Order: sequence, then structure tokens, then C-alpha cells
Amino acid sequence: MAKTSQVSGFYKLKREERLSKVAEFAGLTDQEAKTLEEGLGLEQAEKMVENVVATFRLPLGIAVNFLINGKEYMIPMATEETSVVAAASNAAKLCRPTGGFKAESTEPIMTGQIQLLTKDAKKAKKAVEGNKNKILELANTKDPRLISLGGGAKDLEARIIKTGKGDMVIIHLYVDVKDAMGANAVNTMCEAVSHLIEELTGGKTLLKIISNLADRRLARSEVTVSKNELGGLDVVDAIIDAYEFAAADPYRAVTHNKGAMNGITAATIATGNDSRAVEAGAHAYAAMKGRYTTITSWEKDKNGNLHGKIEIPLAVGIVGGATMNPSARVNLKILGVKTAKELSEVIASVGLAQNLAALRALSTEGIQRGHMSLHAKNIAMMAGAKGGDIDRVAEAMVMERNINVNRAKEILEEKQHG
Ligand code: MEV
Repeated sequence: MAKTSQVSGFYKLKREERLSKVAEFAGLTDQEAKTLEEGLGLEQAEKMVENVVATFRLPLGIAVNFLINGKEYMIPMATEETSVVAAASNAAKLCRPTGGFKAESTEPIMTGQIQLLTKDAKKAKKAVEGNKNKILELANTKDPRLISLGGGAKDLEARIIKTGKGDMVIIHLYVDVKDAMGANAVNTMCEAVSHLIEELTGGKTLLKIISNLADRRLARSEVTVSKNELGGLDVVDAIIDAYEFAAADPYRAVTHNKGAMNGITAATIATGNDSRAVEAGAHAYAAMKGRYTTITSWEKDKNGNLHGKIEIPLAVGIVGGATMNPSARVNLKILGVKTAKELSEVIASVGLAQNLAALRALSTEGIQRGHMSLHAKNIAMMAGAKGGDIDRVAEAMVMERNINVNRAKEILEEKQHG
């Protein structure tokens, strides 16, 4: 039977059953499933950061139903926020009948910045650009492994920027980092070429560091959602009205983008990638046209169906750094991604799905209903409900729109006495 990420009633299964479905989908060994359950060990944690005293855990949920470029994906998501995993799964399900997500990405080119202080910016810019090959060659002596894989410093640019302390020359080193996130490789190269740049220009280099605005490492995804799946033309129109609000208003755009980042960040963390770099890059990219706006866009196609797109910088890797931690390795195996490019395409699609789910909920029943059901379950448990009573009490409170511990206790007692 062909492998599918569509598991009906996945959310209704017991946790162990869900894990075994995922293990079956991804071909996980018993040890890998155990690694996932145990999470990051203390010994490992001590090798990652300083002054470790413990580990801090997040729930790891699996979003199902994702079909991207014709391939089935289950998405590991590390998040503390209720409804995010369910919303991503539901949105991905809506997108399946029309073929799922179509995603693509640029080559994984990261930008390194070298700040050059000099008296004559124009002359220095010329000297750097005139010696481009020499600088690139030196940069490329620093990472023979990356070069052997076809990566390395590929190009360079010198920009003059106006600052409060006069003109400065900012040299951009463009590095193909292949399957890594790339910060280490890029920072090492920037430091390595700085002396040569000083010699060539007579100036003084100061900062040498990667830029998190990875606008040469973009991931894009698009999707068409049938109006019938969404609940009709009115829902399509309402989603577009909601989108236009965000596109025009930064106060709304930031929340709209935050919703997409709920999915992007959760998958980024689950794969051991740097979520702060991804967040910073996405929000900066949203302001690239001189005004902060949305990272997604939605329109109605000629058949009245909804068409959405996302484009963001996604500096995520599948080798190196914290992607090597055992849980991240298992999550990458669940995803089944073969390259960092593929990972970025999957994560962009998750962001688009998450945004779709939020816009659909907000423009129809409102967001609170979905959020309320897990909240109600927690309240039911606090009131002492166990087993099947948890769902029964929670559902009754959600129906009544009256969710509190006293009411939960009353409903429990009604059953006992009735
Ligand atoms: C909540 O985490 C995310 C939303 O606010 C996103 C949005 O408003 O589009 C629901």
C-alpha cells in the first residue's frame, strides 16, 4: 500500500498508538521511538550550553495530512501552544483534494557581512570588488568539506552605507552552505578574509558576522483550496477580506505572520534549527518593501477557489549544530527530507497551512472555540474528571460556553446522581 500521512482519527488515538503510527510511517526503530519519548538527556544538554542544571521540555506533536510536491509528510512540531498542531493537520487535509502544496526554494546561499571602516569608501569598494576572486579563494580555503560538496563562497559585493559616523563599506560574502544552516561556515569565512580586505583597502574591519536576513535563501510554497472544502464562496471571500486587512495594516500583519510562524517555528525547533534566526529573517523580509506586511498572500482564482502563497527566507539545515541532537535526528527521519532545501520547502508549506487555518477560523467561527476545547479538558481534569468523563464534561462546558471548575464539578455530580 502506498505510504500516506493521512491517518483518520489520529487525534483520537492513545499517545502510544500515535507514536507507533508515526514509527510505521517513517520506519523508526524501537530505539528511535524511545529516543523521541525520552527527549534530550542531561549529558547531551551539558554539551550544548553553559551552566546546565536541567532540561526544559516542550510537547512534540505530529501534524498529519501534509502532501507537498506529491510527497507525503508527517510534521514534528515542538510547541507549547494549544490548537497549533490540530490546525496545521486540518488545513493540510483541506488542501489534499486539490493536490496539496507546491513548493520550491533557491539554492542555500547565506550572506556574511564584513564591516569596513575607511577614509575613502569609494576607493575601498573598488579595491574589494577588483580583488573579488582573491578574496573568494581565500574564503574557500577555510571549509574544504563544504567545497568538496559543491558549496563555498560563490560571490561578493561591496555596498556603501550612510551611517551616523559617515560612510561605511559593507562587504557581503555569499556562501552556498549546502545542507547546513551555515552560520559557522559563514562566520569563519568572514573572519578569515578580513585581514586581506584590510591589506587591499588600508581600512579597518570591525564586525564579521552572518546576516539573518537570508534573502538569497528563500522558500516558497503555494496551494489552491477548493471553495467546497472551505465551506463555500462566502468563506473564500471572508478569508480574502481577512488577508487584505493584514496586507494593509502592520498591526494586523504582525499577528497574521505570527500565526504562520506558529507552524514554522514549531517545525524549526523540532528539527534542532535556530528558530530565532528564522523568526528574525521572516519578519525582516516582511518589511523589505519599505513597509511591514504579510509573508503570505491569498486571492480567489477564476473558479472561485482560494489560492495562497508564502515566500520567506528559511535558513534551516539537516546537518551540523543542534540538528545532530538525537531527538532532532529522529524528527528529521520522520520528515524524510533529503536536503536542507527540501526541509525549507516543507516548513514554508507548514507556515502556509497554519496561516490558512487561522484565517479560516478567524473569519468564520472565531479562534476561541478551537482553543476552548483543550482548555475545557484541562478544567474538567482539575475538577476531578477521569477517563471518558473528561471529554464528556469538557464538551458540555464548551456547548454552554461556560468553562470553569465549579461548573465542571456540577456536571460530574449530575452524572453521579443521575
Ligand atoms: C495565535 O497564536 C495566532 C493567531 O492570532 C494568528 C492570526 O491572528 O492570524 C490566531
